[in-house]
Amino acid sequence: MCGIFAYSGPRNNAPLLVVEGLKCLEYRGYDSWGVAYQAKGDIKIYKKVGKIGDFKAKDHKFETSSLAIGHSRWATHGGVNRVNAHPHFSENKEIVLVHNGIFENYLDTKKFLEKKGHKFISKTDTEVIAHLIEEHAKTHSFEDSVKMAIKEIEGRYAIVVIKEDENKIIAARKGSPLIIGVGKNEFFIASDIPAFLKYTNKVIYLDDNQICTVENKKISFFDNIKEEEVKKRIIEIEWDIESAEKGEHPHFMIKEIIEQKDTLNRAINQDPKVIEQVAKEIKKAFGTYFIGCGTAGKVALVGEYLFAKISKKHINFAFGSEFPYHRQFLTNKTLLIAVSQSGETADTLEAIEIAKEKGVKIVSIVNVESSTMARISDIVIPLKAGPEKAVASTKATTSQLAILTLLAYACNGGILEGKHLLINAASQINDMINPRYEDHIMKLARKIKNVESMYIIGRGMNYPIALEAAIKLQEVSYIHAEGFAGGELKHGPIALISKDTPVIALVANDDCKNEIISNATEVKARGGYIIGVSPENHEVFDYWIRVPDAGNASPILNIIPIQILAYQLAVLRKNNPDMPRNLAKSVTVK
Ligand code: G6P
Repeated sequence: MCGIFAYSGPRNNAPLLVVEGLKCLEYRGYDSWGVAYQAKGDIKIYKKVGKIGDFKAKDHKFETSSLAIGHSRWATHGGVNRVNAHPHFSENKEIVLVHNGIFENYLDTKKFLEKKGHKFISKTDTEVIAHLIEEHAKTHSFEDSVKMAIKEIEGRYAIVVIKEDENKIIAARKGSPLIIGVGKNEFFIASDIPAFLKYTNKVIYLDDNQICTVENKKISFFDNIKEEEVKKRIIEIEWDIESAEKGEHPHFMIKEIIEQKDTLNRAINQDPKVIEQVAKEIKKAFGTYFIGCGTAGKVALVGEYLFAKISKKHINFAFGSEFPYHRQFLTNKTLLIAVSQSGETADTLEAIEIAKEKGVKIVSIVNVESSTMARISDIVIPLKAGPEKAVASTKATTSQLAILTLLAYACNGGILEGKHLLINAASQINDMINPRYEDHIMKLARKIKNVESMYIIGRGMNYPIALEAAIKLQEVSYIHAEGFAGGELKHGPIALISKDTPVIALVANDDCKNEIISNATEVKARGGYIIGVSPENHEVFDYWIRVPDAGNASPILNIIPIQILAYQLAVLRKNNPDMPRNLAKSVTVK
């Protein structure tokens, strides 16, 4: 996790500029933050515990500087405190560094350095990298020391380093994102593009094992494996700044929920050749896997049901973190389809790496087209949802669901039928995302805002949506929420139902309808308060949230009222829905 931002150029307010850049990356980590900058030959550091979004320019007067690096942290090694916040100094305080990732073998290196007299003040793996660079710098140049140090790091990293007496920034990556924004005689280095989008839309993607050095208005690149200079292309990207900002909305989460009116259409509007090509690969493959983590994992599980029903094909599902335990089953005829918003989730990336070792072909369904995942895949299907900033995924989810539905139809020779179904579903979204609909859900939110637990049930392709609904409610409302397959209730979870326990039943007009209504009735008989999400009202419902009848696209429409409910509960309970406690948008650690 964690966000990195660095600047080198003619502006003399680099520290503040870095702070502003980090504010755009806060979704990646928000427990503490810090900035290091060069001022009159010295390195100054300013660190704080808490959200960088709360910082105002008047809170601290930075000295004039045109070179600065910064970091917004999501703690992995060591608790949340000022000492563990980045940037970290080397022993001699000459080298300072920020890091996103995990230095897996840091304890061995730390012991080795301790024997050489190094003393560590933090509990982080990052501080060890700074000391390791210093150790090499005793006998080598700054650049060579960085090159040598990162060769010793096992795991994933994106680092940005500066040294007291050198007017340069060195950045390197392996597995964690780093993108360079190229302005006029100035360079921005960040974990994600929106952070520097207001200055430039010209970018250079740093690849794994590459190092970049910014010095005297110039940038150079080095491949640390081949040990040679590399030339990199500048790419102009099309994202506009508004799509990365909240605009008039109080939170990104509601902005992104509303954007689904448009994003779903964009997801449906895929290049048919690419969809047909992936469908062909699925038909040809001897075993296909869908993988993803968190919300993307739940979407991948919906895919298993969609393919069974629409294209009569069995696809295996695994969470990214569980996929490695299927590795014995993989051959060069296997196909892996990874679902991800960020394209940077470490567990999904590791699964892909394992599959690639076995010669497996990789398809990724991903929002960030510049991501590691997109770049290491054989075929990419872009979500085209624009930047998703709120930690809780909303618009990316429905876009992913739409693409899987389209693929399932394409696999059965019915891409046009699929497109038609999805366009129809997308056209119904206006009936769901409007003030009247939101008010209706708000009445429910007010009623249940203080409950301890709630449950969501679904069947068939709406069973994974019950799981996704639970995640949505948990992550922003902090109410205990669990999703179950309707039929599983009677095998245990029904014991949790007492008077007025809210239970959301996802009821589609499909072959599961009667059974899920029966399950809701069983809950009601035990005192449960039944909230029906369904095209039609039913006597078993105590509260009805109408959703349009979307046929096989019902998972897409059923999750939308839950997204709205989760958002409203978060606001009513005074939680920040964009930055839920303990979570981060992009989980780049295993
Ligand atoms: C984190 C986020 C989730 C997301 C998951 C997978 O846990 O909080 O919202 O679903 O990562 O992320 P990805 O970028 O791969 O979709």
